[in-house]
Amino acid sequence: MTELAPSILAADFAALGEAVAACEAAGADRIHIDVMDNHFVPNLTLGPEAVAACRRHTGLPLEVHLMIERPDEILPAFVEAGAQLLTVHQEACPHLHRSVERIHRLGAQAGVGINPATPVSLLDVILPELELALVMSVNPGFGGQAFIPATLDKLRAVRARIDASGRDVRLEVDGGINHDTIAAAAAGGADTFVAGSAVFGKPDYRAVIGDLRARAAAAMPCT
Ligand code: DX5
Ligand code: ZN
Repeated sequence: MTELAPSILAADFAALGEAVAACEAAGADRIHIDVMDNHFVPNLTLGPEAVAACRRHTGLPLEVHLMIERPDEILPAFVEAGAQLLTVHQEACPHLHRSVERIHRLGAQAGVGINPATPVSLLDVILPELELALVMSVNPGFGGQAFIPATLDKLRAVRARIDASGRDVRLEVDGGINHDTIAAAAAGGADTFVAGSAVFGKPDYRAVIGDLRARAAAAMPCT
């Protein structure tokens, strides 16, 4: 099933509570929270306190996209703050299997993301452990960037691996998702779509989310 995950990176940081509540009212499926450390990516954003603050304003699942080096020590704080799913980056975790194990031991779902230049094969060993695989369709760090078309082949490759495994793993795409790009990403096999500027750049969140969902559903390959 198609799921839409608005990224609050594009929201007004002075009014995050209102932003997540508005996304819920507009029919979003989950809230995507981008955490950046100014090391793994050249930007600095939110921590566990912001996740806890969002938690107070929505009942939707909160997924935390950790664009931070060596995240292990801070994983518990995000679960305590109310996150359901934590996504770490393959490139940022020297002991990726241990990081994923930690997330599960904390009682959360685990995702692993790969950057546009990271080969899909680096997900192979960890894929059987995951609830979500994330294919970045921009270089992480900023909202509002253009979708990188070369990542479509990677979506297709990860989709084939998930289908071959027979496991229920969500395939998420993040970066540059909008009315023009979501159909190609859905046709490539994504089922979970992060959208930041496409949602928060418009006055009517419900209309945007509905339109994105319809375009994705129409383009999804028949299984
Ligand atoms: C980028 C973030 C994305 C970002 C997407 O590093 O991981 O979640 O918010 O923003 P848009 O949808 O504007 O590309
Ligand atoms: Zn993200």
